[in-house]
Amino acid sequence: MLLAQISDLHIGASGSEIERSSGSSGFLERAVRHLCHLEPRPDVVLCTGDLVHDGHPEEYARLAALLKPLPMPWFVIPGNHDDREHLRAAFGHLGYLPASGFLHYVVDRGPLRLIGLDTHVPGKPGGLLCTERLAWLDARLAEAPRKPTLVFMHHPPFRTGIHQMDAMGLEGADGLATVIGRHPQVERVLCGHLHRPIVKRFAGTVASTCPSTMLQVELDLGVPGRLSVLPEPPACQLHLWSEEAGLVSHLSYIDDFRRKA
Ligand SMILES: [Fe+2]
Repeated sequence: MLLAQISDLHIGASGSEIERSSGSSGFLERAVRHLCHLEPRPDVVLCTGDLVHDGHPEEYARLAALLKPLPMPWFVIPGNHDDREHLRAAFGHLGYLPASGFLHYVVDRGPLRLIGLDTHVPGKPGGLLCTERLAWLDARLAEAPRKPTLVFMHHPPFRTGIHQMDAMGLEGADGLATVIGRHPQVERVLCGHLHRPIVKRFAGTVASTCPSTMLQVELDLGVPGRLSVLPEPPACQLHLWSEEAGLVSHLSYIDDFRRKA
């Protein structure tokens, strides 16, 4: 089974500042084309938050149109730039988002259980896993203790060393570690938010972040207070599951650099 992960799409309204400065919709068009032409084609696509830039309904409508060519199912969770209710209104018809409350859900796909977690806090750049959200996760994990499970969410549960991003990190990461530590079937915690690929051992499993489909955060492990975004190559991740090898994760650049060489 092959899962693609895209993150931090930051779609803006037509003519908006984010679209003018970054061209995020054009980047997503290319990412969707990339996913459609992969051989083998991914079975599902996970979109790990910051789907749109300002949380407006118009942005979600634009996002829906951009994702429409994907022939495989795609699953979304909110990031800090999203709006929970506008996201629910735009994608509720897909059938997996709950009608109220946090945008958590479970999807059983082939040999894997996929659990989307909502770390969104309205108006805040950082994320939160409160006791209610952690109790929900603990209960879902207890339902299928032998099924390999991927948890996906926006904010990573670890400090990265990129100070400005750590300043908008995840509150409740220790609680998440306690819950995940109780359930060894969790193969991976897949995150976004950092606009960079980062990997960390976490609570007996592996936590990772995915690059953005548009601009990347500069790899700056130096002075606190600095944060810049760069036109480094956009990328997605491909997570390949097999019973024998477990989950193996690849970085897949979205531009075809072979053609330019
Ligand atoms: Fe982002």
